[in-house]
Amino acid sequence: MLPRIPWADEIAVDLGTWQTHICVRGHGVVLREPSLVAYAAGQRRPVAFGTEARKMLQRGVEGITVVQPIKGGAVAEFDAAVAMLRHFLQQATGRRLIFSPDVLTSVPTGATSVHKRAKHDALRNAGCGRINVVETPLAVSLGTGIGLNAGQACLVVDIGAGVTDVGVFCEGMATYATSITFGGDDLDEAIVRTVKRGQGLVVNHATAEALKLQVGTLDLHSVGVSVQGGNNTGVGANSLSGPLEVDPSGIPEVLSRGLMPLVGELRWILEELPAQQRAEMEAEGIVLSGGCALLDGIVPFLAGHLELPVATATDPMSCTILGLETILEDVGALSLGGRRFRPSAR
Ligand SMILES: Nc1ncnc2c1ncn2[C@@H]1O[C@H](COP(=O)(O)OP(=O)(O)OP(=O)(O)O)[C@@H](O)[C@H]1O
Ligand SMILES: [Mg+2]
Repeated sequence: MLPRIPWADEIAVDLGTWQTHICVRGHGVVLREPSLVAYAAGQRRPVAFGTEARKMLQRGVEGITVVQPIKGGAVAEFDAAVAMLRHFLQQATGRRLIFSPDVLTSVPTGATSVHKRAKHDALRNAGCGRINVVETPLAVSLGTGIGLNAGQACLVVDIGAGVTDVGVFCEGMATYATSITFGGDDLDEAIVRTVKRGQGLVVNHATAEALKLQVGTLDLHSVGVSVQGGNNTGVGANSLSGPLEVDPSGIPEVLSRGLMPLVGELRWILEELPAQQRAEMEAEGIVLSGGCALLDGIVPFLAGHLELPVATATDPMSCTILGLETILEDVGALSLGGRRFRPSAR
């Protein structure tokens, strides 16, 4: 049971493709829930959110459709996003939002005005007051601790479900930032395609993700894993409703190949950096965060392909919200040392 917070007038929200985090000023991170909403057939009011909705998705509950309101880091299902945010905000503060709290959130670098507006409106309709926005790569870097401390240049890479946020930090300044539409969802889609092509099985997105999480590595050679199929999900259509044996031995290769577009993007970013910053990175290298940083073998994989040292952040899935918390607690974190954020030109 979450503690009741009597006065939550300033909060931070990381509305992610896979999960939502909420932080209340003075109370730290108080909520981490899957960004999922469950609906019963023929009803417009959701019946479950977050963890409960994920359980329904995994169990394949008859007559229930589970939707993912955020896709690729942007609001894809507006009404579901509003309902989910309202529910999570009440859960996080332990009460109905009578007073509209000020909210700090982040958007991917280069997000279109339509995407920014949708996120703003979703938060406003869910009961938030003034909405302040920073770019996600900056929040991530503050959350890893790098943004404040980097002496020599380093690259912060947060691989989420729908977006990879990348920032270059040098002498306490962000010198480059971009958000690439790539994440764990793309790896799941690669699994869907490969299982269909290789084994003739039709699996949905949720099943593919379960398989990815069970295999969990880029270099495993393993035996059979049984993954339960489901026929009730809006996250991806699946024609299977019973248990389904998928041979997982090829999954590490699918994941490695699936990561190659990201490797290409990161190579391009590194090549475009000023020579001195690129040379400095030989020392500090890359700090990896986001849920995909938990993939076993991803550190040597990226280090090998990019020829730079790679380290994983301490709490990879919380870097964005921790960075937002840093700003919430001390807005000076944004201006220390004249730190400026230069939006990506891409
Ligand atoms: N242990 C794990 N091993 C491999 N992948 C994982 C693991 N845990 C989570 N993931 C994957 O990480 C991704 C979610 O990461 P994260 O929580 O950082 O995303 P998000 O912040 O919600 O999304 P985004 O920032 O892209 O909007 C999902 O694709 C999920 O399958
Ligand atoms: Mg994220």
